[in-house]
Amino acid sequence: MNASADPGMGLNAPAYVQHPRLLKWVAEMAALTQPDHVHWCDGSQPEYDRLCEQLVAAGTLKRLNPAKRPNSFLACSDPSDVARVEDRTFICTDKKEDAGPTNHWVAPAEMRERLQTGPQALFRGCMKGRTLYVVPFSMGPLGSHIAHIGIELTDSPYVAVSMRTMTRMGRAVFDVLGRDGDFVPCVHTVGAPLAAGQADVSWPCNPTKYIVHYPASREIWSYGSGYGGNALLGKKCFALRIASTMGRDQGWLAEHMLILGVTSPQGKKYHVAAAFPSACGKTNFAMLVPPKGFEGWKVTTIGDDIAWIKPDAQGRLHAINPEAGYFGVAPGTNYKTNPNCMDSLRRDTIFTNVALTDDADVWWEGMTDEPPAHLIDWQGKDWTPEIAKQTGAKAAHPNARFTVAATNNPVLDPHWDSPAGVPIDAFIFGGRRSTTVPLVTEARDWVEGVYMAATMGSETTAAAAGAQGVVRRDPFAMLPFMGYNMSDYFQHWIQLGSKLQASGATLPKIFCVNWFRKGPDGKFVWPGYGENMRVLEWILARVEGQARAQEHVFGHSPRFEDLRWDGLHFSAEQFHSVVHIDPQAWQAELALHEELFGQLAHRLPAELPATKARLAQRLAQRLATVAS
Ligand code: OXD
Ligand code: MN
Repeated sequence: MNASADPGMGLNAPAYVQHPRLLKWVAEMAALTQPDHVHWCDGSQPEYDRLCEQLVAAGTLKRLNPAKRPNSFLACSDPSDVARVEDRTFICTDKKEDAGPTNHWVAPAEMRERLQTGPQALFRGCMKGRTLYVVPFSMGPLGSHIAHIGIELTDSPYVAVSMRTMTRMGRAVFDVLGRDGDFVPCVHTVGAPLAAGQADVSWPCNPTKYIVHYPASREIWSYGSGYGGNALLGKKCFALRIASTMGRDQGWLAEHMLILGVTSPQGKKYHVAAAFPSACGKTNFAMLVPPKGFEGWKVTTIGDDIAWIKPDAQGRLHAINPEAGYFGVAPGTNYKTNPNCMDSLRRDTIFTNVALTDDADVWWEGMTDEPPAHLIDWQGKDWTPEIAKQTGAKAAHPNARFTVAATNNPVLDPHWDSPAGVPIDAFIFGGRRSTTVPLVTEARDWVEGVYMAATMGSETTAAAAGAQGVVRRDPFAMLPFMGYNMSDYFQHWIQLGSKLQASGATLPKIFCVNWFRKGPDGKFVWPGYGENMRVLEWILARVEGQARAQEHVFGHSPRFEDLRWDGLHFSAEQFHSVVHIDPQAWQAELALHEELFGQLAHRLPAELPATKARLAQRLAQRLATVAS
């Protein structure tokens, strides 16, 4: 393709794109990446259908049995491209300390040389033999004062169709942009140019990967992967890493949080935003079905992964879901753990790296108690329960995903697309901890809540490449998603809280939960899933100032009699094992908090070590009482 110096020429730009700066940027990127064609996505259904057909012809997608799963597809990735690559993710601020010690950093000029300007620049000619798709998208309801716009240039049609599901994508975005609106430029390539006549593979990618963010100019550059958060740049790259820096500069929050609505039997509606690390059940919590004994309660989904939260004119925090679809973990999802999710996936879904059944449907570990007798696994090999027993082979990759529109969700909240967002009553922070952390604790105040969130630990999962099951500190569940210095982010939370409080606004209460404590038999003690409603009911009653609790070293937790147990056999002994605080384990835990604060010492807000000192003192008193 010959990109002209005259913006718009040779780009096949539709007449409705009237934005000179955008046209110039697309022309420059086309000149750099040298695609054979440029396609401007309009976001229409015929375009989606055409691209899916093209992906089927290329072998990237398989159409599933239309009688079982209408309008649905299976993609199987290259085995080297199955998760986010945190060690290849870079925050390129001018000064290293502005990225902070938890991020990988390379100076912007050096990174630009590697990617764009140097003699071996990876993006030069990277789209040869391919089509460049121009993907206009809005994160958040179109035109909402909380929403922002991005344009992703990608050479992956799989990414283009996935972005249509995951964001508000298409022509209407240009109406919001007008002639000079702001957008976040996102450039993505699978890094696999094709020579003339070279046959393509079904999942092109490159062993070299770069997921790069320039917070100052709000740019995203992604090279070498076609998978999930590495490639769907509206999600982690924009809605968390770049948006967190926008939030810092503009006084709002971009968080790794689900947003749910809860309506009580009396008809009172609450909204809760909850942060959990990847693959810790955010989608399940966001679609929770109230259990037996909770008839009359209703839980509805606003978002399952990301929240953008801004104060309104009165200082009340309101949240929108910047996304429009779910890119959720399939394994473990079933009609018991998340029936609403299973119903969402009955049609119009792209599955990635799950297994194929003999009647062209999908299956993954945990979908049914009994696995099918035969499958084609995510790597295209025969799979039987016998083979699995002998080799340990998984039918689906543990990070296998579904991509589905929010509008497929039967419990979608009526206000999920509301431009004003929904008012938040409580924040919940939760990690995956088999020991130590109690089922639920309410922070005594905002700063103690920030402390709880900042010191959160969690056992790692398959959502990221690397070892699994290792406890790592994951402040605010944002460790892989922070766009700037983590200590400055803690400061931003503390400052926003004190500013809103000073203005007379009521802040959401902050809670810390842990659904994952295990007994001596290695099994989870708390039943989780729908039963988490019992904890949610207590949280909302605390918001109303109604529920009882007992105070301990770290805040307030319910006693056995403070939760409602109708419909569940859960003994006081079992309850004790998920709430009790082991002072010795907590001494070790506080030492890990200290280690984190040591790592983040530069610019760490003084409030956090001061809070730790107070908690350590309370713990020492407790230990002394136990000993005496
Ligand atoms: C996700 C993740 O895909 O957190 O949402 O990894
Ligand atoms: Mn996530």
